[in-house]
Amino acid sequence: MSDPILVAVAWPYANAEIHVGNMTGSHLPADIFARYQRLKGRQVLMVSGSDSHGTPITVRADAENTTPLAVYQRFHDGFLELFQKMGIDYDLFTSTHTENHVDVSQKMFLALKKNGFLYKESQKQWYSPKQQKFLPDRYVEGTCYICGYTNARSDQCDKCGNLLDPEKLLEPRSKIDGSTPELRETEHYFLDLGRLQNQVVEFLKNRETYWRPNVMRQSLGQIVADSLHGRSITRDLDWGIPLPAEILSEGKEWESKRLYVWFEAVIGYLSATIEWSKVAGQPEAWRNWWQNSGSRTFYFIGKDNIPFHAVIWPAELLGVDKDFDALMGSTDPKPLVLPYDVPANEFMNLEGQKISGSRHWAVWANDFLTRYDPDPLRYYLTVNMPESKDTDWDWEDFYHRNNDELVATWGNLANRVLAFAYKHWEGKIPEPGELTSLDKDLLAEVQEGFLTVGQEIEAVHLRAALAEAMRLATEVNKYLDQTAPWQAVKTDKAAAGRAIYTAIQAIDMLKILFAPFLPFTSEKLNKILGYSGSLFGSQYVETEKDSLGEHRVLRYDAGTASGTWEPGHLKAGDIFNAPEPLFKKLDIKIVEEERSKLGVPPAA
Ligand code: MF3
Ligand code: ZN
Repeated sequence: MSDPILVAVAWPYANAEIHVGNMTGSHLPADIFARYQRLKGRQVLMVSGSDSHGTPITVRADAENTTPLAVYQRFHDGFLELFQKMGIDYDLFTSTHTENHVDVSQKMFLALKKNGFLYKESQKQWYSPKQQKFLPDRYVEGTCYICGYTNARSDQCDKCGNLLDPEKLLEPRSKIDGSTPELRETEHYFLDLGRLQNQVVEFLKNRETYWRPNVMRQSLGQIVADSLHGRSITRDLDWGIPLPAEILSEGKEWESKRLYVWFEAVIGYLSATIEWSKVAGQPEAWRNWWQNSGSRTFYFIGKDNIPFHAVIWPAELLGVDKDFDALMGSTDPKPLVLPYDVPANEFMNLEGQKISGSRHWAVWANDFLTRYDPDPLRYYLTVNMPESKDTDWDWEDFYHRNNDELVATWGNLANRVLAFAYKHWEGKIPEPGELTSLDKDLLAEVQEGFLTVGQEIEAVHLRAALAEAMRLATEVNKYLDQTAPWQAVKTDKAAAGRAIYTAIQAIDMLKILFAPFLPFTSEKLNKILGYSGSLFGSQYVETEKDSLGEHRVLRYDAGTASGTWEPGHLKAGDIFNAPEPLFKKLDIKIVEEERSKLGVPPAA
């Protein structure tokens, strides 16, 4: 097989549930893209997992008086449930808390060290005299020294998006008790980004023509404005990945330090590919995505993750060069593939305000799916995807998009044509006779969608891609208005049969054009149309065991998947099944019901 494509999706912190903003930011665009590539017959691997280490998890555990392990496991289980219900088909959704990930991360660290890109330095870190411990990253909040935002975390500012040097934070306060921390010396390992700068700049310049402007601004633009400098990649913390054994032998103090969560989490893209290869029984298969010059890797992330994916991760990959592979025992070691694209999304707000879990201003995806179906959610999140600017989830807009577009334009089209054919042609595709130029023009136009919709998806313009598929559905509706088979059947059944035959062929093509976006209903329509087998495979949960314990993962099974990105093969006389509506019309009262839940803590 050719054309390896890695669909790499930001690893969600296992410290909070996934809301609609997270969904439209990374998981959903990745899934649409991966499904399309699968239909194209490309060798696709879509991987991610729970980001389970670091202070995001320990701060939550402290607040709940429980362990980081318990926090991680609880949210991880929720993620597995959600991706199955929502049809986010990961080939592997694992976690950073696995023996494999620890091993791969330590090898990356050692390869960087071998190549001279790590150095040790004593650094000032916030320390709590009261708690008698260091307070890394999220344990300290204060004022951003770049933009003045007063709720910046010590390592990153959510307002201006910059990575921060923790010791420069202004007005610092401890997240544990609000007390003022002090700076104390502690020794850490640093990644020498300054010495990787030229290579990183060259990597970015080679992608300037096709990357999203915002991603270029937050990577190349930042480097031009302010050169790269060393960043600490270890922390004084007891939850996370220990330093490699050969570092521990440098002194006892290293036992109480861990790899910085961002240093190791991005390595997850590589380690998850390796884990997938092992469980698939082809331990060398990962090389197909990571060492093959024809491989393309796409990183689906939110804008707050840009510096880590467009600068730091490429720097790690460049820095290890061939030496990660050498540590894997390869006799002919090769370098690792750099990101091809980082199509980062902006944010989705909710009813005009920033989504916030703590203020209960959120639509949680798992909760949403207890009341609505997944495809309407996928539809609304795609037409509203924050590809080039922030967007807004608005319940009234959701209601209209569902009823006026999804149901009216696409669902009703399929349903009324098939119900009519089922009734008047005994559940068979009518004999068309000779097609007129009107019929042929319609079919040619819809067929052209395999190119036009496909090109938009390839460029990760998913809103435009879905709009194009919807436009073609509108064309079919116009064609039916013109040919009016519902009238013609009484006077000229042959003409009606020809129009219905043509419309069914168009619907059969639209089924595929919509499939990456609306997989559940396309799958349903595929069955109604009488095809055996399914367009896509499915996911299942599996429990793996290693020295860190048991962990549950999602895996994709192609099964009997038979969908391809091309027109189908229905013929006159073929039998199909009784149609059922694809989508439900919503009642306007949901708008007020849903709005009244915002900002209110859920009943315990
Ligand atoms: N956990 C991070 C977040 O939710 C994303 C990590 S992406 C990774 O913002 F690549 F580093 F894993
Ligand atoms: Zn800032």
